Amino acid sequence: MDLKHWKLDIDANHLAWLAFDRAGTATNTFSSEALRELGSIADHLVSMPPKGLAIYSAKDNGFAAGADIEEFTRFRDADEAIAFTALGNEVFDKIAALPFPTLALVHGFCMGGGTELALACRYRVMDDGAKTRMALPEVMLGIVPGWGGARRMPKLIGAAAALDLMLTGRGVDGRRAKKLGLVDAVTPRRHFTNAAQQILSKPPPVHAPTLTQAMTDWPGVRNIVAKMSSRQVAKRVRRDQYPAPYAIIDLWKDFGGDPRRVPREHPASTASLFFHPTAKNLIRIFLLQERLKKGSDPFSQGEERSAGREKGSDPIHLHVIGAGAMGGDIAAWAALRGMTVTLQDLAPERISPAIKRAADLFRKRLKQPHLVQAAMDRLIPDVAGAGVPKADLVIEAIVENADVKRKVYAQVEPRMKEGAILASNTSSIPLQQLSSALLHPERLVGLHFFNPVAQMMLVEVVEGPQTSPEVMRAGHAFTRQIDKLPLPCKSAPGFLVNRVLSPYLLEAMLMVDEGIPPEALDAAAKDFGMPMGPIELSDMVGLDIGWAVGQELAKPGSPIPKKLQSLVEAKQFGKKTGKGFYTWVKGKAVKSSSGPGTVDLKALADRMVWPALNEAVACVREKIVADADLCDAGVIFGTGFAPHRGGPINTIRARGKQEWLRIGAELKAKHGPRFEADTGWDAI
Ligand code: NAI
Repeated sequence: MDLKHWKLDIDANHLAWLAFDRAGTATNTFSSEALRELGSIADHLVSMPPKGLAIYSAKDNGFAAGADIEEFTRFRDADEAIAFTALGNEVFDKIAALPFPTLALVHGFCMGGGTELALACRYRVMDDGAKTRMALPEVMLGIVPGWGGARRMPKLIGAAAALDLMLTGRGVDGRRAKKLGLVDAVTPRRHFTNAAQQILSKPPPVHAPTLTQAMTDWPGVRNIVAKMSSRQVAKRVRRDQYPAPYAIIDLWKDFGGDPRRVPREHPASTASLFFHPTAKNLIRIFLLQERLKKGSDPFSQGEERSAGREKGSDPIHLHVIGAGAMGGDIAAWAALRGMTVTLQDLAPERISPAIKRAADLFRKRLKQPHLVQAAMDRLIPDVAGAGVPKADLVIEAIVENADVKRKVYAQVEPRMKEGAILASNTSSIPLQQLSSALLHPERLVGLHFFNPVAQMMLVEVVEGPQTSPEVMRAGHAFTRQIDKLPLPCKSAPGFLVNRVLSPYLLEAMLMVDEGIPPEALDAAAKDFGMPMGPIELSDMVGLDIGWAVGQELAKPGSPIPKKLQSLVEAKQFGKKTGKGFYTWVKGKAVKSSSGPGTVDLKALADRMVWPALNEAVACVREKIVADADLCDAGVIFGTGFAPHRGGPINTIRARGKQEWLRIGAELKAKHGPRFEADTGWDAI
């Protein structure tokens, strides 16, 4: 057979070995072409049946990342989306119908279509590696597992567990997958050949769900499970904003998980979902995320190079100065991701809370005691700064004070090894202020992490006027090595994310001063699609921090929020002190039970969001990030800005620039010059 994306071998024992190796990419995804080829391989094998078939991936990073999402963006009409859905079903059904034992050997990531292919096989074996994950994450793109996932997974592991995976998009590792019954065996990848030979030459009984698992898919029970799942989903998202999770429930409950049976006009149909603005926006965000990972921007072209050393050499040594909220957690995260990290602070007792937090993180993420111990061994308390001369990268995360930072640099820089990079986690001080006394100002880069480090994917990689392109690339490569998302930014106050977020938070606080209840403001923001309202968020982050950042980023003449000021003066900083705008009990804000009242939530949201949109426009105009797309991506990944709206610039375009300008003009007439439209709106 003439194959482009697959490689088929039949061995002496008549076992067929089929490798997925999509041409021209480092990652396996299912294009129409790759799917059709798989279909013709299935036809061929039916005509000359082997004793068994093992499907595996020839790529190092994983089995398959799912459908080729670029192809989604080329659908011109619903018919093309429907045809792509039908093709995946047809091909995977051919695999499921093969008249001999079939087995998927899964290592690395196995997402969406990859999982659906594995589910179409009779058996599945999964690698036990830390990076191996199986998932059906379609919901995150606003669509459904439509290539047999929603049909086969509930049958295999019961509807309750299958719905949980499909509705959250969460990935499971080998151990969890085995426990759920999703895979038949878990073994290191080096044993795959053996495992396959054993299973295919002596096929064991095919996995069946337990009675309790199977019951959840019985017709009588189905409605109850569907109702309970809908209730859970409704706690998280609204149907008009995120139709996909509701569609998954309908698809399973009413159509046996088969999208080909869903009438075109039904909200769960392929046509409805693919052409809903949410899917369009979520797919765009996904592609932007890929762009950030690759670094296809002016700062990151060319050979990838890790901080201070060539790609592919030993893991890098990181030295972190400042073991506080940020430095401690950055050090822990890097150790979790396999780096050797020395962590410096003024005294051992300042480092020990960070080590304790790190141990909690390792236990939560790594689970197995020997892995936890190995991570603990990689994280080394270092009051004397002995790690500095060994480090490829030094990250400074001490107090936000330029003089103190410069003093530390003066001591540290001469001790750094040649070619090593110095990074600051500063959230507001322009790099040019920090690099003035450096011997090598070109080696200073900003690596601005977000709080909490373990949850926030974005890192702003900040380029000062003197930062060399090579150091920017190294900052990007380091960020990728620890599995975070690098956003190249120019060094200007607030960079991108805090700069866009600040005027939104400020406006909300000024509205509190006018007597609008915080509950109403938070409800309005959540209605707009923010994951948390601005007042609750400020209380969570800490009003002292919000106050300091606000001071740093305030424009001349901008009003001071009085309630915020009085809370800060009274040392009522929010969640951490138990009182802020809200009273906090057991980590939760106590909100008035009367709710937001009868106020016009949309008008409140418009007023809070407008300043953020205006600031995003200014950032694009000033080229703080390379273009409007990266502005949207940065604000979404850095703040959680209503993902279904596709970011601030997309929000402007979706509702219409003229409409937003009209709203801005009205607000300016009422509330003054802080609603002056930036000059960059013309270019949006
Ligand atoms: P923090 O106050 O929790 O920690 C600072 C740590 O630095 C303290 O443990 C202190 O003992 C230590 N330190 C001070 N001078 C030192 C020196 N000369 N040598 C060694 N250690 C020294 O502060 P946090 O919140 O971790 O902030 C650190 C940096 O990260 C600041 O630049 C801040 O702007 C930035 N940042 C903070 C975020 C936040 O949400 N807290 C978010 C992003 C950036």
